[in-house]
Amino acid sequence: MKTKLIEKIKNKQAYIGIIGLGYVGLPLMLRFVEVGFRVIGFDIDQSKVDLLNAGKSYIEHIPKEKIAVALETNFKATDDFSLSASMDALIICVPTPLNKHREPDLSFIIQTIDTLKPFLRSGQLMSLESTTYPGTTEEELLPRIQSIGLKVGSDFFLAYSPEREDPGNGSFTTQTIPKVCGGITTACLEVGEVLYQEIIDRVVCVSSARAAEMTKLLENIHRAVNIGLVNEMKIVADKMDIDIHEVIRAAATKPFGFVPYFPGPGLGGHCIPIDPFYLTWKAREYGVHTRFIELAGEVNSAMPNFVISKITRALNDRCKSIKGSKVLVLGVAYKKNVDDMRESPALIIMKILQDLGAEVAYSDPHISNFPKFHGFDFDAKSIFLSPNSISDYDCVLLITDHDKFDYYMIQEHAKLIVDTRGRFLDLADNVVRA
Ligand SMILES: NC(=O)c1ccc[n+]([C@@H]2O[C@H](COP(=O)([O-])OP(=O)(O)OC[C@H]3O[C@@H](n4cnc5c(N)ncnc54)[C@H](O)[C@@H]3O)[C@@H](O)[C@H]2O)c1
Repeated sequence: MKTKLIEKIKNKQAYIGIIGLGYVGLPLMLRFVEVGFRVIGFDIDQSKVDLLNAGKSYIEHIPKEKIAVALETNFKATDDFSLSASMDALIICVPTPLNKHREPDLSFIIQTIDTLKPFLRSGQLMSLESTTYPGTTEEELLPRIQSIGLKVGSDFFLAYSPEREDPGNGSFTTQTIPKVCGGITTACLEVGEVLYQEIIDRVVCVSSARAAEMTKLLENIHRAVNIGLVNEMKIVADKMDIDIHEVIRAAATKPFGFVPYFPGPGLGGHCIPIDPFYLTWKAREYGVHTRFIELAGEVNSAMPNFVISKITRALNDRCKSIKGSKVLVLGVAYKKNVDDMRESPALIIMKILQDLGAEVAYSDPHISNFPKFHGFDFDAKSIFLSPNSISDYDCVLLITDHDKFDYYMIQEHAKLIVDTRGRFLDLADNVVRA
């Protein structure tokens, strides 16, 4: 079974099914099609399926032309999961959020497996790419697959390979980002490695699916903890009237032993604020308390209130209160140059400002209409930036420093800029660092 599947993959005769066509699944689909595989994309979101089949894209950095080329060659999208029976490889890229108690919510993964179960057959590889805690593949996927009589490692192959997509980063592509892979058995890893070698320059094999799951968490926890550290350093530097960004730039000239991380208004995105708590939750089962993760979470989640205190102070210095002030938020995406607002610190900061009585507007070249978010009532369109529109606000609050902003014009015309990103380098009367 294994030899036959490997041969099919190497000959590009294997059909690839990608489940979950979001920020992770779509680029993966494009790469498989690019190298000559036939790919079916599965998603429960009918609107995404329709858009893709009409040659459209719903992710800004994935141009519709690429979808159109994929459609013309070897791709179609569907919500008909019975087609998964004819797939040789099934790659799962569905969301893994936290629930309201900030605990792992595996419901998307479980729902996916339960939907696929009636169509699974021998001779298939399943690879989970969603970020999750160590043990998910072995404890959640394996028993479900075994329950229908498939023997994993001999007639069905199961692997975990975390995604390392970095939307908006033009320095890397799906092909050039090394990919970690771990299997439930040696045979599972062998098949997984062969599959990913077809599309990725370097596949990094580890001894188990659990090691691969933990690798992804280490990468993201490393970021969360270091961002927590520089955020704390920012608060100290601010009290001492030192520019933390100047300090980081200077420290980064050290050619060894220092990696620069940058402070900001709080963590955002679908990964860094969420993934560390997958490990925290799982570690409890082993009687271990993840103190670094909790502490970084505490520091990082206090940053929106730090920003609010800086705005309050800056307006107060101008004999104004937040109540009744007009505040223009620049950048509502969770990071620069992307159109993704998930977990963006802009959401919480705008909500606090609104609750305090400010009149809040926003400008974001990547998000023209403010999407509907649960618990957030903000129905507005992005403001076009011009000297007139900028000077109309009591405070311009830079949350996400997109490259498309004209920083020179903003500084020329804003009455007050509160800069959470260290973008305005020179001291000026109208710039306050936050
Ligand atoms: N976005 C990133 O940069 C990134 C990077 C690395 C890892 N990840 C991880 O990858 C996973 C996916 O993230 P994403 O950003 O692509 O999410 P996303 O929300 O952009 O896409 C997920 C897609 O899965 C679909 N979906 C949900 N349930 C489904 C089901 N039962 N069957 C089929 N489709 C279903 C959704 O409709 C959506 O289109 C997460 O675990 C995330 O942590 C994301």
